[in-house]
Amino acid sequence: MTPGRKLMLLVERMSGIVLPDRELQRLTDWAGNRAAIRGFKDTNAYVDALRRYPESDEWRVLLSRVTVKESSLFRAPQQFRCLSESIVPELVASGRTTLRVWSAGCARGEEPATLAVVLDECLGGTKVRWSVVGTDVDADALEAARRARFSPRSVRRVPAEYLERHFTMRSGAFELKANTRSHIRYASLNLIREPLEVPGQPFDIIFLRNVLIYFRRESQARVVRSIQKILAPGGFLLVGPSESLMHVAPGMKAEERNGVFVYRRRDGGEMTPTVSVNGRSGVFGGSDAAPEALPREPNRPESEGGAKDSESFAVEGHRAEMRDDLRLALRCYRASLYLQPDYYQVRYRLGQCLEAVGWSGRAEAEFRTVLEILRLGSGKTLEILNRPDFPTRNEIEAECRKATRSGP
Ligand SMILES: C[S@@+](CC[C@H](N)C(=O)[O-])C[C@H]1O[C@@H](n2cnc3c(N)ncnc32)[C@H](O)[C@@H]1O
Repeated sequence: MTPGRKLMLLVERMSGIVLPDRELQRLTDWAGNRAAIRGFKDTNAYVDALRRYPESDEWRVLLSRVTVKESSLFRAPQQFRCLSESIVPELVASGRTTLRVWSAGCARGEEPATLAVVLDECLGGTKVRWSVVGTDVDADALEAARRARFSPRSVRRVPAEYLERHFTMRSGAFELKANTRSHIRYASLNLIREPLEVPGQPFDIIFLRNVLIYFRRESQARVVRSIQKILAPGGFLLVGPSESLMHVAPGMKAEERNGVFVYRRRDGGEMTPTVSVNGRSGVFGGSDAAPEALPREPNRPESEGGAKDSESFAVEGHRAEMRDDLRLALRCYRASLYLQPDYYQVRYRLGQCLEAVGWSGRAEAEFRTVLEILRLGSGKTLEILNRPDFPTRNEIEAECRKATRSGP
């Protein structure tokens, strides 16, 4: 096995991250460079040292190299709207006087900062105490998170009045004000390591967004099992808008709130709200809607009434795609796949749309999942997409192999 391939497998074993094959050459070159800098005789010796010394400083450099830290404040704002309008009011109504929130895989602090802003807006001036813990496997990202300084691009979705209340402009960056920042703590944590011990656990709310997408299904299941144990009874787990835990979390059930899917423990002893939900509303409305937002009211045929089902989302997505409305198509396909993750034709279409809008990494992840679904034999066919102008199962499989360079 080549040293680059060995390194890829080692990265997966240590962090859960599966690097795509197209990274192999770049990673091999990078490892060769690091081997020279650190005085190893060759790349093999370097990889071997990493394997033997999992606590070494070099892992910090490697993890910083292989993690994807793409994030921004108020990313997928519909989830934060759901937080302020539904989740927080419900938890407070159930009698909680303390709210503990965890941002797992917090990158450079964009998500914890957003959570702090939203919680301060919801709970500032009340007796409810709250805290946010941000954790990540990448120590460099955490260092940046602690500085709490964000670029204008990163804050582009922050509502103007929040920017003014919670940030100070300093040397071209937006710095989170000390008062809001004081509620956030950061810690280094590798989600794949068991047992999971997070400072401040258990949590009422856990954000685990856009982290598991880099993991294999078995690793996803392992992480969710660990996380479930530290989700407080009645608590909420949110993953990214295009992710689904359907096949990896038998102990969790999905609920739809304000057009957003949230997960709760099946054994969690549901809380019944004792007062009506009265979070602040309207702040995230209209133009803040993210491209990833789930459709609130996709047009469905009259005959299907108001029930949202996977098929009608898929059909609406296909119609939108035919009209070249790729944003709506993406939203509808994602909604469809939330409800039925094994519709391989829909997933294939989602991949194609992602590619068309330039998100080739995400497209490739979808194509890989299609192949995994077909391999497992769990693929479900949507009759309505069995049309002469639509690729057959074999053609889809061949296309996905080509797109992911997975061989015949
Ligand atoms: C794409 S960012 C997501 C940031 C944020 N949650 C969001 O949705 O905007 C993924 C983050 O997950 C972190 N990560 C990847 N593998 C991890 C692991 N095994 N344990 C903890 N964090 C991990 C990466 O370092 C990176 O910061």
